[in-house]
Amino acid sequence: MTTPAASARPARTLSVTWPRWLGPGSYGLYALGLVPAAWTFTLAVSDQLGADPLKVLERSLGLWALKFLVIGLAITPLRKLGGPNLVRYRRTVGLLAFFYALFHVTVYVWLDQQLDAALIWKDIVKRPYITVGLLSFLILIPLAATSNTTMIKRLGGAAWQKLHRWVYLAAAAAALHFIMLVKAWPAEPFVYAAIVAALLLFRLVERNRKPAANRKEKVRMSP
Ligand code: HEM
Repeated sequence: MTTPAASARPARTLSVTWPRWLGPGSYGLYALGLVPAAWTFTLAVSDQLGADPLKVLERSLGLWALKFLVIGLAITPLRKLGGPNLVRYRRTVGLLAFFYALFHVTVYVWLDQQLDAALIWKDIVKRPYITVGLLSFLILIPLAATSNTTMIKRLGGAAWQKLHRWVYLAAAAAALHFIMLVKAWPAEPFVYAAIVAALLLFRLVERNRKPAANRKEKVRMSP
C-alpha cells in the first residue's frame, strides 16, 4: 500500500544533463544533428556514393528528415512512460527534421530536376508519392516558421498547440511517401509507418484519458 506521503510525491522523471555546448537550442546540438548531412554531402562530392550518388544523397536526406520527425514525436510519450525528459530538445529536433526535408527537396528540385518547373509540376501531378511528399513538406513549413518564442506569444499557447498537431499528418504523409516510392516490400518504410501510427495512437489515448479541463498543457519548448 502507498503511504499518503509517497502518493503525494510527483511522478518520477529522469532529467538528463548534457554538456553546455549540447544544451537545448545550442549551436552544438544543431551542428551534431547536421553531421549526417555534412557527411553524406562530403561523400557525394568526393564520388564515394556509388553509381547513383544523387539518388543516395536525396534518399539519405529524406530518411533523416523522417527520423528526426519520429524522434520529435516520441519525446512526450517517452517522458510519460517514465523515460528521460527531453522536452527541451523538441524544438531543435523538429527544426532539424525541417532542415533535412528542405535539403531533401532542394536536392530534388535543383540537382534531380535541374530547376525545370514544368518537369517538377509534371512529377507532382503524375507521381502520387511526390504529391504526398509535397503535402508533408508544405505542412512542415508553417510549423518551422512558428517554432520560436515570439510566434508562440503571438499565436497564444492553445492556437500554437493546435497548429503543431499537424506534425502528425506531416509524419504520416512522409511515412506514406516512403511506402509509395518503394518497388518491392522492404520492411523499413512499414516500420516507420508503424512507429508513426503507434505515436499517434498514444497521443489519442492520452487525449481521451484527460478530462477536457486539464487538456491545455503549457507549451514546453527549449529557450
Ligand atoms: C516536395 C516534397 C518532396 C519531394 C519532391 C520528394 C521527393 C523524393 C524523391 C524523388 C525520393 C527518391 C525516390 C527514388 O528513390 O526514386 C524521395 C525519397 C524519400 N523521401 Fe521525399 N520528397 C519530398 C518530401 C519529403 C519529406 C517532407 C520527407 C520527410 C519528412 C521525405 C522523406 C523521404 C524518404 C524517407 C525517402 C526514402 C528514403 C530511402 O529510400 O531510404 N520526403 N523523396
